[in-house]
Amino acid sequence: DMGGHDTYMHKEISEQPDAVDRVLRGRIDDRFNTVHLGGLNLDPREARAIRRVKILGCGTSYHAGLIGASLIEGMARIPADAEPASEFRYRNPVVDPDTLYIAVSQSGETYDVLAAVQELKRKGARVLGVVNVVGSAIAREADGGVYVHAGPEVCVVSTKCFTNTVVAFALLAVHLGRIRDLSVTDGKRIIEGLRKLPAQIQEILEQEEDIKKLAAQYADAKSMMFIGRVRGYPVALEASLKLKEISYIHAEAYPASELKHGPLALIEPSLPTVAIVPDDDLLEKNRAALEEIKARSGRILAVAHREQEKADHTIVVPKNEDELDPILMGIPLQLLAYHTALALGRDIDKPRNLAKSVTVE
Ligand code: F6R
Repeated sequence: DMGGHDTYMHKEISEQPDAVDRVLRGRIDDRFNTVHLGGLNLDPREARAIRRVKILGCGTSYHAGLIGASLIEGMARIPADAEPASEFRYRNPVVDPDTLYIAVSQSGETYDVLAAVQELKRKGARVLGVVNVVGSAIAREADGGVYVHAGPEVCVVSTKCFTNTVVAFALLAVHLGRIRDLSVTDGKRIIEGLRKLPAQIQEILEQEEDIKKLAAQYADAKSMMFIGRVRGYPVALEASLKLKEISYIHAEAYPASELKHGPLALIEPSLPTVAIVPDDDLLEKNRAALEEIKARSGRILAVAHREQEKADHTIVVPKNEDELDPILMGIPLQLLAYHTALALGRDIDKPRNLAKSVTVE
């Protein structure tokens, strides 16, 4: 049942304010400005002993893991990174007892992720799951974890599950952070930011008509470039994946800082760039990248907290805490991919060559 929407993807994009509300519900502790996660199975002493965090997932879940790693490293001050589960599995990684491994999967059934979890457990590692589907294979195999409570996602490409997974990582980061070095005031600041997300996502969804008009202007592109820096880079990766999956337009994502080391050679009027430009300590650096692109007559669509004069168009999104901004900056780009695919007449809920859960190698 699409509930009045033309596609499941549109329905699921629209459900995000409620979905985010659900992942937060019952988990925030205002007395200690922290987060309780019932199924984690990690006591404070164990949480303090973690020396590294390694996050494993595929596709969109890997991208959510990249944001998760930066949230955990930033708030809990534990070195953290994310890697595609299949790459990890085949490179014979060193499995370290002081590392917390986290498997991310919306379906909980992705074979490459499940096999990585099984290999890790065989070697004695502790593995948590960040999973949407309750009771799925990865959820059962993990030692504990966080359910993302996005509700059922029918469209092959993920939107609300992605957003909720990132929010679940923010909750985990506050939880670990408050056991370690995140101050009471920083805990409170992030918790207040998390509570603002549903209304801010709603505000972005209300810009749909404008985003649809923009999509019509970019739908003739043969290829698109997505750039972001540090927190903005995983947003660029995810937006680029979403666009290619449903519109079949070729897209690349690069850290903005890498442009001059190669991809700048591609920039010309027929290759538009989508730039993630948050109002944070890297704003001037990001603006410099826009200037480099403009100097080569590249078209620019910015996602920013205020109009960017170097950009041809800006989608202005509400500001949250710097750490949580990536969550909001991804939302308009789901709509951009959606309306681009719609303008091109694509089968949005069932893109060619793709399946919802990849249970084979
Ligand atoms: C893309 C998408 C895929 C999945 C990937 C992993 O929109 O949904 O990239 O994220 O196949 O699936 P899960 O998260 O179920 O492990």
